[in-house]
Formats: sequence, C-alpha cells, structure tokens
Amino acid sequence: MSSFRKEAEQIRRKIEEHNYSYYVLNQPTITDKEFDDLLKKLQTLEKEHPECVTPDSPTQRVGGKAVSSFAPRSHSVPMLSLENVYTEEEFRAWWERAQKNLESEPIEAVVEPKMDGVSLALVYEKGRLLSAATRGDGAVGEDVTANARTIRSIPLNLRTQNEIVSDRFECRGEVYILKSDFEKTNRRLIQQEDKTFVNPRNAASGSLRQKDPSVTAGRNLRFSVHSMGSMPSQIKIETHSQFIETCKKYRLPVLNQSISICSTEEEVVQIYRHWNKIRESLPYEIDGIVVKINSLRQQQILGQTAKSPRWAVAFKFMAHQVQTKVRAVEFSVGRTGVVTPVAKVNPVECGGVTISSISLHNFDEVERLGVEIEDQVLIERAGDVIPKVVRVVTRSKSGRKIVPPKKCPSCEGEVIREKEEEVAYRCVNPSCPAQFERALLHFASRDGMDVQGLGESAAQQLIQKNLVRDFSDLYRLKKENLLGCDLFADKKAENLLRQIEISKSKPLAKLLIALGIRHVGEKIAQVLAERFESLESLQKKTLEDLTPIPELGPIIANSIVQFFAQKSNITLIKKLKESGVNFKQPEHLLGQTTPFSQKSVLFTGELKRATRSQAQEMVRQLGGNPVSSISKKTDFLVCGENPGSKLEKARHLGVQVLNEDEFIQMAGEGGRGTI
Ligand code: IVH
Repeated sequence: MSSFRKEAEQIRRKIEEHNYSYYVLNQPTITDKEFDDLLKKLQTLEKEHPECVTPDSPTQRVGGKAVSSFAPRSHSVPMLSLENVYTEEEFRAWWERAQKNLESEPIEAVVEPKMDGVSLALVYEKGRLLSAATRGDGAVGEDVTANARTIRSIPLNLRTQNEIVSDRFECRGEVYILKSDFEKTNRRLIQQEDKTFVNPRNAASGSLRQKDPSVTAGRNLRFSVHSMGSMPSQIKIETHSQFIETCKKYRLPVLNQSISICSTEEEVVQIYRHWNKIRESLPYEIDGIVVKINSLRQQQILGQTAKSPRWAVAFKFMAHQVQTKVRAVEFSVGRTGVVTPVAKVNPVECGGVTISSISLHNFDEVERLGVEIEDQVLIERAGDVIPKVVRVVTRSKSGRKIVPPKKCPSCEGEVIREKEEEVAYRCVNPSCPAQFERALLHFASRDGMDVQGLGESAAQQLIQKNLVRDFSDLYRLKKENLLGCDLFADKKAENLLRQIEISKSKPLAKLLIALGIRHVGEKIAQVLAERFESLESLQKKTLEDLTPIPELGPIIANSIVQFFAQKSNITLIKKLKESGVNFKQPEHLLGQTTPFSQKSVLFTGELKRATRSQAQEMVRQLGGNPVSSISKKTDFLVCGENPGSKLEKARHLGVQVLNEDEFIQMAGEGGRGTI
C-alpha cells in the first residue's frame, strides 16, 4: 500500500471514530474545528492523490451529484407498518390478545420510544454501506443511498472494535431531526425566503428526499436503528434485544438508553406514562412508544397481517389536537413585505397553552385547507411546534372566503403577487411601518445583534413615537427618550440601553444577518465575514467578485450587490459607522468554531477557578452567549459547587450539564483555555 493510501486510511479511521463518538455515543472527544481540520486534511490528500479515494471515504459524505428522481429499490422482506393503539384500554386488549395467542407462555416485551421521523432500510455488504431505501409501499422503496451517506451517524463501514463485518447485513431504523436542528433549518429557510417545514417529521422526510444530496448534508439528520431486515443465517440471535446489542456492537446508532424490558402490561403502561410526561423535554420528537415481543420465536408464532406484525404495536400519545372556530382573519406583514394570513380563533387550550391566533402560512395553504371564516377547524400543537390548522371540521353556512388583501393593513400600500408562480403576496411599499417593525425585530434578534429587551411591544412604541426610523437610531437613544414611552421604567430603560451598547461590538457576521440582506442567513454571513473581514470591504465587491464563491452563487451574489447599491442602505451603513457599530470580524473568530460557538451557556453554583463574570467573558470570547436563565434553548449548564435549582431543571429539560473541569477542558479545546 502506498504511504499516501495508508495515511488516508488512518485519517479515515480517525474521522469514523469521531463520528461514532459524536453521533452514536453522544460524547464528542474533539472540537468541531479539529474535526473539520481532519476532514480538510483528508480532502487535500485525496485531491492530490485521487487514486487514494475510496467510495466509503468520509469526504464522500458531503453530497454527490443531484438526481432528477430516485431509483426504485425492492426490500428483501417487506417493510411493515405498525398497528396503533391510543388508550390504555386498547393497549391492554392488544396485550391480552398476544398473551392468548401464545397460550399463556410468559411474555417479555421490549419498549422503545416511537421516533417521529421516516423509516429507512440500510443494507451493508462486505462491511460497506450498499444501499439505503425509504419504505415506499412496503415492497419497493426509493433508493436514497447518496442522501443517507451524508447522515453522519450512519456508518459507511460496519465494523466491530477491530474487524470489518463481512456478511450481508440489513437493519432498519428511523431518520429523524433534533427539534433544535428543525428550528434552525426553518430559520434558514425563512431567511432564504423558502417554504418552511410544518414539523420535525416533515423536515426529516423532506430533507432525506432531496434531489441534491448536499442539501441533505446541511440538515444534520440523525438515524436510530429499530428493527431487522433479512438476517444472515450466520448471525445467531433469539431476541429483538440481542439484535439491538448486535447493532451496537457494529457501532450502529441506537437510542439504547431509552429501551426497557417489561414482563407485565402494567409495567408497559407505567413506561408509557413516563414517556408521555417527559416527551416535551426530549431533544427529539416522539409520538408514542413501540411495544415489541422480545422473543423471535414468539414473534413467529404471532405472525403478521398484510400490513403489520401481530408481535408489535405502536402505543401512541394523544395528539395535541382540539377544535375551535375561526372568528376572523388578520394579515401580518413580514420584514420583506410578505403578507401572511393569520386565523383568529376562539381561544382554546392545546398542548398546554392557550391558542387564539394561528398562522395559515400563505394563500395556497388557505386554498389547500379550504378554510373560511366562521368554520369549525381542528388545530394541532405538538411539542414546541407552532400550532397549525389540520383541517376543516364543519363548514359554516355563513362562511366567508379568505382572500389576499388588495391593500397592506399597515400602510395601505399595494399588495401584489410579483410573479404568478410565487406563493407570496407582498406589500411593495419600501417604507411600510409594519415591514420596518419586523426588520427592526430581526435586527435585534438573537441571530442578529442580539439586543435583549427589544421585543415586539418595545419595537412598536419606538417606531410609533418616531424615535427609531432606521436601525442606526437605536444607537442614538437616550434614557429620557425611553422614559417617555410608557413601556420603560428606570431599570428597563437602562437595561435596553446597555444591551444596545453591547450590540455595537458584535462580530461582522452578526451584523450581516441583522441587516436583513435577502438570502443572507447564518451560514452565508459567516462565509462573507470570514472572507472579507470588514463591511467596507464586502461593500466594494462586484457581482464578478462574489458569484464565483462556492457557497454563494448568482442569486445570493446578486442580492448582496443589490443591497449595497441602494442609496438608503449606504446612508444607513454610514450612520451605523458613525454610531460606533463594529464592522469587523474579530480575528479570533476567523475560521474558528469552538465547542461554545453560537451556544448559550448558563452558570450555577460557585466556581473554584474563576469568578462568574470571568467565566462568562470566556464564553463570549469563544463565540458563545452567556445567559441568565434556563430554558429548553440553553445549550450548556456549567455547574459549580452548591448548585441551585437550575441543575434539576436542566436535567428535566435535557440540557447538557458540565462540571467546572469539563467546562475548562472544553474551553481549552477552543484555543484559549486559560482564565
Ligand atoms: S418497529 C415491523 N420501532 O413507526 C415494524 N418502528 O408507524 C417495524 N418507528 O414504519 C418498525 N420508532 O418507521 C419500530 N422504535 C421503533 C420505531 C418505529 C419509530 C416508525 C417506523 C415504522 C412506523 C410505524
């Protein structure tokens, strides 16, 4: 073997190991930066020595050629579906039936969470991932191998600790997306003015079925094994749990910490209640539990119907669905002028919150649902997902159609659909106050300049009182201005001014997002900031300079050039500069991601090696965001001695907890681990 080939193979093994630690064991051992460096090293090596490239190299995960349609792929054994039960009574009836058919032999059942994603069958041959196919009609699915290869928890090579698994091996599992990645994807889609996904399941399925694998690669999909395909006779297993153990041995991802074994229906019911209670706090969506008879012999006795096995059942959670009436429709205007119909409904409790207002997304969706004012509708709110109208339940006789308004509800400007094929109707008045309010909120949002305390009502008042007409006016606000608004008492005014002051020194990437340039979201802003380092330098770039940048392409490049060509934007930039807003990407952020980049970090208890504020500063330096209260969005809780109630809450919410040593170690991996 040539020395290059050997080196490439070594790096590949390392990368595989890190993928395994990160995605399967959930215990990263290196920083993202170090990982990217390894991948880059391999890419360079393979570029210089193309003969070293192998089809299962991690460099091949980033996404190959786009396809116009997926090839059909037959399943070795049918991919069945599951029978559903919704109540404890129905479940007990299922259990008793199984018990009866097994002639009162003792039953052992495996209970797993029912991942709300999309199923995928993986076939490995001679240890290599041969194919990945969706369920399709159960007999034939779609070949999505190129897309599945981009999912980093799916091993490209099956191996136990040391040896390659040489048999043909098939397993099936669920492709899913973390709630946080679902939100991130949607935020990105909004920034790109693309259609968003309604829920994580659709996001997982839509992302897996992209024609262009590089789009799938950017969605951070995950995989967890849940069932067998055809089994080679050499593998001797007698139970489902042994199959799962085999998968773990092969380093396939299994959400194993969540699997329990029960021998009575009562135990299953207890576990069902437990999962139902904690489902909201999980980082991924589940829509029930799956109960499977563990013994393969017993499974065979029970057999299957045409659609589903009799040895397994999905014990589903009650959907968070309720009925209510559409009282009226209002139209909200977004920062780019898009007019969104919003249904005002009779307030109802759904999934733990009271809902009185639901976005109908766009007028195509209104038409699809066929919803009219006065209709009785079924609405749904699952987890953190925004509520949606599922369908019309009863049509009112006095129903009124929902049609796009002719005039903007805010400025009375003209509302038009720019192109026939576009979904969105827009208010085209550039000085529409409603658009500016949204743009200001975007400017101040967490992804942008992160001005905490500048929420909807504050933005409304500042605009109404003519205190803020463009973003730069924020930096001219005085305490007495704010005290003149009834929303701000002494302390609140000071807090907002402090936040505004802090926002001046945000890195360039944040400013670029905040400016609201069409198609410039988190990723593109980062690319631009790293490449051009200052706003002035970016401002001078032409279409010819920008279009060749791989991440941009002509549409984004054009949008950037257009933005800087507008006189009002040039004036705005000048004013922001005069106000002391930072236009540069700090050197330490250039090309560097740290374990705390973009992460929110909360501290509790006493730290031994630093004061609280020193530790918070360290997080800031590493590109993170120190926060003061805990929520599901918190990424890390750093726990010193005598922690407060935040620790318990973090555990409940599934927030990752670090002790001080772990924090220091991770901070060290970011390059500046000293306090
Ligand atoms: S077992 C023959 N286990 O739910 C049954 N399925 O509604 C094989 N699912 O198509 C499936 N989590 O995509 C099984 N722990 C789990 C699951 C699970 C999610 C999906 C799977 C299946 C669907 C049926």
